[in-house]
Amino acid sequence: MRLAIASDHGGFQLKSQLVGKLREAGHEVEDLGTHSAESTDYPDYAHTLARGVADGTWPRGILVCGTGVGMAIAANRHAGVRAVNCSDTYTARLSREHNDSNVLTVGERVLGPGLAWDVVSAWLEGTFEGGERHTRRVSKIEPR
Ligand code: RB5
Repeated sequence: MRLAIASDHGGFQLKSQLVGKLREAGHEVEDLGTHSAESTDYPDYAHTLARGVADGTWPRGILVCGTGVGMAIAANRHAGVRAVNCSDTYTARLSREHNDSNVLTVGERVLGPGLAWDVVSAWLEGTFEGGERHTRRVSKIEPR
């Protein structure tokens, strides 16, 4: 799958590990930074990635910060972006099957690298179920 990934300094280590594992697994990954542990502002990275998901540059994206929370809040300000902050595989999978989430956020200070990879894998493998019920609900997410 083609996807973008970004982090602030709080997610830099986990993001670097995920980039390696995603590429090893055959995904085409665009790494939007940050590229060091120097302090940065998470919204800068969230907005860059979310803009690209909203305009179709990348079908899906992954954001990493200390908790995943700030990244999700910022990414969800973009119309068409459905960002989910997940710390378990069930929520990650269901966010794809029922909510058609297109951005996953995870927290380096919350998850160890093993669980983070399981959460990312569950999210990547999850497929939107579609159907009238879920499609109708997802279409109602954007405020009218
Ligand atoms: C940075 O200290 C931290 O606030 C950030 O990585 C993130 O957890 C924000 O939600």
